[in-house]
Amino acid sequence: MKTLITGAAGFIGSAYARVVLDSRPEEQLVVLDKLTYAGRRENLAEIDDRIEFVQGAIEDRDAVREAIAGCDCVVNFAAESHVDRSIDDQDAFARTHVIGTGVVLDAAREAGVQRFLQVSTDEVYGSIEEGTFTEDSPIRPSSPYSATKAGGDLLVSAHFHTYGLETVICRGSNNYGLRQYPEKLIPLTILNALAGDSIPVYGDGLQVRNWIHVEDFARAIDTVLLDGAPGEVYNAGGPVEVPNIEAVKRVLELTGRDESLIEYVRDRPGHDRRYSLSSDKVRGLGWEPRTRFTDGLVATVDWYRDNEPWWEPIRSGEYRAYYERQYGRALG
Ligand code: NAD
Ligand code: DAU
Repeated sequence: MKTLITGAAGFIGSAYARVVLDSRPEEQLVVLDKLTYAGRRENLAEIDDRIEFVQGAIEDRDAVREAIAGCDCVVNFAAESHVDRSIDDQDAFARTHVIGTGVVLDAAREAGVQRFLQVSTDEVYGSIEEGTFTEDSPIRPSSPYSATKAGGDLLVSAHFHTYGLETVICRGSNNYGLRQYPEKLIPLTILNALAGDSIPVYGDGLQVRNWIHVEDFARAIDTVLLDGAPGEVYNAGGPVEVPNIEAVKRVLELTGRDESLIEYVRDRPGHDRRYSLSSDKVRGLGWEPRTRFTDGLVATVDWYRDNEPWWEPIRSGEYRAYYERQYGRALG
């Protein structure tokens, strides 16, 4: 089998490529990635000699056609993944999630691809104060990030209904683990705690996220790719729901810092209060999460502590300007 993975130089896509090669060492992988600020070749270093890497954007029709030639499957991870950045400027989000996804869908059809998996997010359902989202819950995205992800998902369904392309969609909850760009809550908190810097908590910190370890999500995606029914959506949520403030306090404990580092700052506009996903449908295909949040968090903190050469260039590069823009005034 030959699979095109888009966006695999990022956090989840690179974990997925490793999961595939561990379970099916003979599989051929082609990676198409634009290498935005979040895409890093070193995320694929361990498997570099086992993949074909192409630098290119999913909205570039020629680049996609070339990369997809001869592939049986496509797994589309490529995305602008950070909600706060979408609030500042939505253009790249719409370009990648809507136009780009459409281009990959067209190219998959032209190339006779057998399976197209769209990697999506629980954020397309919006916020839920009580209860749990299922795959039949209505789509009510709140942010430009989730609205454009929902647009991509709808195009995927349209290609199933209109052209008969065999598509599946896998919607994940909040991922954490190794190699996550430090703009996200967990790695931001770990790196700030290790440095003794303030930790920005939005609003009252009581928003709830449903944390899933990145390798568990990667295995769920693979399960859906191999065994999901065409045209269907599958949710993959983590084993726990944790208020943000509690997640931050656990990281402080693991890094030996006290709570005086916590700084409550202005809330994110349109902030979703709670996410909660039912994963019964993907569990029906034999998947279940393996990593408990407490264990996964320990391993994640250890990884960041031991891998300064991975994050140091990020903290001193583009991220620094972003961080100043996002938090500078609030954190003094
Ligand atoms: P990430 O930001 O770490 O990586 C995104 C990757 O996509 C990068 O390598 C980047 O270079 C690449 N990319 C961006 N725009 C591109 C374009 N136009 N063409 C080609 N490549 C492009 O993101 P992530 O956290 O690994 O998320 C991967 C996918 O999983 C996304 O589709 C995201 O919506 C989805 N998702 C993420 C989470 C999460 O908690 N991080 C949860 C559920 C779903
Ligand atoms: O739920 C899945 C989604 O999870 C993915 O689709 C997104 O790609 C991914 O970025 C993530 O979105 P969130 O917005 O939930 O993740 P983030 O790490 O940005 O924020 C997690 C929670 O922590 C959220 O309630 C906002 C809060 N937060 C975040 C940051 C960066 C803070 O309180 N302070 C912060 O500095």
